[in-house]
Amino acid sequence: MFDFASEPGAAGPELYDSLVAAAKALVEGEDDAIANMANLAALIWQFVPELNWAGFYRLMDGELVLGPFIGKPACLRIALGNGVCGTAAASGLTQCVSDVHAFPGHIACDAASRSELVVPVIRDGAVIAVVDLDSPRIDRFDATDALGIETLAKAIAPSI
Ligand code: SME
Repeated sequence: MFDFASEPGAAGPELYDSLVAAAKALVEGEDDAIANMANLAALIWQFVPELNWAGFYRLMDGELVLGPFIGKPACLRIALGNGVCGTAAASGLTQCVSDVHAFPGHIACDAASRSELVVPVIRDGAVIAVVDLDSPRIDRFDATDALGIETLAKAIAPSI
């Protein structure tokens, strides 16, 4: 049994310090990428408040393919450069979108989503996946969330 939990009331950098430490412990000794992404999606969901979707898209044969997630069923494939996820994957840069309705080409998988954070996972210099967090609250994500998920992405890149 895993029993990871953030400190009650933890927010900002402290919350992400705990999340990254728990993520490292969770993937330790396991080399199945799907199993690790499934547990990591659950861990993000458990630690990060105000989410309606959390999970992975994997870069496979030049397009993003849905990976393990928590939330409503989502679009299966996203072309590079399309939507928030495809933009993050094509550029290799974090996309922190305060209002998804204002993002050209945003792909609405869940109508409840109002803001979104997408962080590329980079291994050996190449994007291999993205971590996608959606929130029903406009302007939910800030630079602390972006840095926290970027730190998580670096830590788990060898394990997914
Ligand atoms: N909104 C994303 C699509 C994925 S869902 O949010 C799960 C996008 O614009 O790429």
